[in-house]
Amino acid sequence: MSLVTGKEILDAANVGGYAVGAFNINNMEIFQGIIRAAEEKNSPVIIATSESAIKYAGINYLVSMVKTAANITSVPIALHLDHGKNFEVIQKCIKYGYTSLMIDASHLSLDENIEETKKVVKTAHTHNVSVEAELGRLQGIEDNVSVLERDAILVNPQDAKLFVEETEIDSLAPAIGTSHGAFKFKGEAELDFERLDETKNLTKIPLVLHGASSVPENILKKAAKYGAKIPGAKGVPTEHIKKVIKLGINKINIDTDLRLAFTTAIREVFANSPEQFDPRKILGPARNAIYDVVKEKIDILGSADKAWEEELVL
Ligand code: G3H
Ligand code: 13P
Ligand code: ZN
Repeated sequence: MSLVTGKEILDAANVGGYAVGAFNINNMEIFQGIIRAAEEKNSPVIIATSESAIKYAGINYLVSMVKTAANITSVPIALHLDHGKNFEVIQKCIKYGYTSLMIDASHLSLDENIEETKKVVKTAHTHNVSVEAELGRLQGIEDNVSVLERDAILVNPQDAKLFVEETEIDSLAPAIGTSHGAFKFKGEAELDFERLDETKNLTKIPLVLHGASSVPENILKKAAKYGAKIPGAKGVPTEHIKKVIKLGINKINIDTDLRLAFTTAIREVFANSPEQFDPRKILGPARNAIYDVVKEKIDILGSADKAWEEELVL
């Protein structure tokens, strides 16, 4: 199967009421762990590369690797640019065959965000590449945040309706209280479910949750056992993830949980086998750890057995 578009994967998820994982990759082992899990679960999958991942690994290597997998696997794969901010990078991704991209102009005013997003949609849609955009800021909402502050940080559902109509984007990432990384909440994990519900009702299109890692306790414990120092780490509880999917989230972005699992497995090998220096004996277990995490995520998101049949290119 060749790569599919983000729109094909997310429209099906929107109709079916489930979510698909968008997993960030930076190297081959992370990628292979994700694909193995998607195949075993017969799940569509979105492979996300940030601008810094492209800088780190090289766009040629990333694209070749993902297209190779798409050619030999039966699960639908979309290749997505995560948080595209630079128009040149966006154009390059389109040229290299990405099938989905995010234009992140959420730091701009609503009008400027609309203008910037429209420009990207025009180019991307000409090449059958799907577009995601973002509204609001990815920032936690603490208990003491005032209503005014909350309004300034989070998505405004009326703005979202206008934004979707004006830009003709394929999916929207509304800020509802999540943030990137391992330190999402100081106190209770609080998300604005009402705002999400209203945004879905007014836009109807596939919605995306950024900063959706759960930062699992068992991985944190194991990481600490083998020397990690990441006190205060806290993610989005799995129950919240299930609830946002019911309210219309169709794409769940995961990077931090993969980073934690991958590096914890490496720490374990070094701690238990300090004589080891074969990269395969170190990165092999890390690849397995990615596989375990992704399999579990697919079950939570409800995308198992949602892959559709298409001819293999072989
Ligand atoms: O959105 C953030 C992703 O976790 C990617 O992060 O820019 O460090 O690759 P990165
Ligand atoms: P996490 O840091 O919660 O994994 O979020 C990743 C993300 O949103 C990528 O765009
Ligand atoms: Zn993100």
